[in-house]
Amino acid sequence: MPESSSPLSVLITGAAGGLGRVIATTFLEKGANVAICDVNKERLAETSDLWSTKYPGKFIAQHADVSSLPEMEAFVQAIVAQFGRLDLLINNAAILDKFESAGTCSLELWDRVLGVNITGAFICSKVAIHQMLAQSPPGGSIINLGSNASVCGTDGGLAYTVSKHGVLALTRNTAAYYLDKGITCTMVQLGGLAHTNIQDSMAHGFDKEGIALINKHMGGFEYGVNDVPLEDVANFCVFLSDKEMAKTMNGAAVPFNRNWPAGH
Ligand SMILES: NC(=O)c1ccc[n+]([C@@H]2O[C@H](COP(=O)([O-])OP(=O)(O)OC[C@H]3O[C@@H](n4cnc5c(N)ncnc54)[C@H](O)[C@@H]3O)[C@@H](O)[C@H]2O)c1
Repeated sequence: MPESSSPLSVLITGAAGGLGRVIATTFLEKGANVAICDVNKERLAETSDLWSTKYPGKFIAQHADVSSLPEMEAFVQAIVAQFGRLDLLINNAAILDKFESAGTCSLELWDRVLGVNITGAFICSKVAIHQMLAQSPPGGSIINLGSNASVCGTDGGLAYTVSKHGVLALTRNTAAYYLDKGITCTMVQLGGLAHTNIQDSMAHGFDKEGIALINKHMGGFEYGVNDVPLEDVANFCVFLSDKEMAKTMNGAAVPFNRNWPAGH
């Protein structure tokens, strides 16, 4: 992380567990001020307990839903009240679908997945950009966590795939519109991760035909062999938090997937 007189102020969504918590802890270790939100109260409490003795005064862990504009506005206000500004937003919060297709995905699941994964990322970007433009000095950066599903048609069911393709569009559009306003936007296109909670979404069943199709098209994934280490993603986000690096990479969608699926 670049040396600066004041610590970087970072907001990571959906970071009470999984990848988000590893990224957040890495930024705390580097001396940043870190704000996380999540909708899982138990994991938020567990994370606060974990951090409270090691990083007192350096973090905020608050219940806030990324798909609610008023909740995210209030959260960013709380961040600015405590840390003075917002330098970096990492759009991490997401939910998986049940590997269903256009014919089988319910409207309810479609709305829920798009509501969190793409409307949520839009809302957080909107609120962060307003703050980044208003603060002095102005500016900041956004990192969107995309997926192989941002570019492949068969790395998830329809709703997740559409949402993650949307994250790529959000990245490119934001990067272009804010190029001259001191705000950058990049996407990390992740492969498979181990030790996260993303499969919670499938706790009440999933489409076996959909999973079989994905395995057929995306074969070769093995936990412990080609899953992407969470710490590597976290360190890459720290690398991207360098303003000059983020400017050069503005608009980029970087594959970060251990070359899985090979050849895509
Ligand atoms: N797990 C994988 O294999 C994988 C692969 C590619 C990309 N990704 C992406 O990486 C990111 C992190 O995923 P993960 O595997 O750590 O998942 P995870 O389920 O462990 O973490 C996501 C967090 O988001 C939270 N969340 C859900 N809805 C929310 C809402 N409305 N508001 C705020 N928080 C909310 C969840 O409670 C959870 O803590 C996601 O963007 C995901 O799409 C994951």
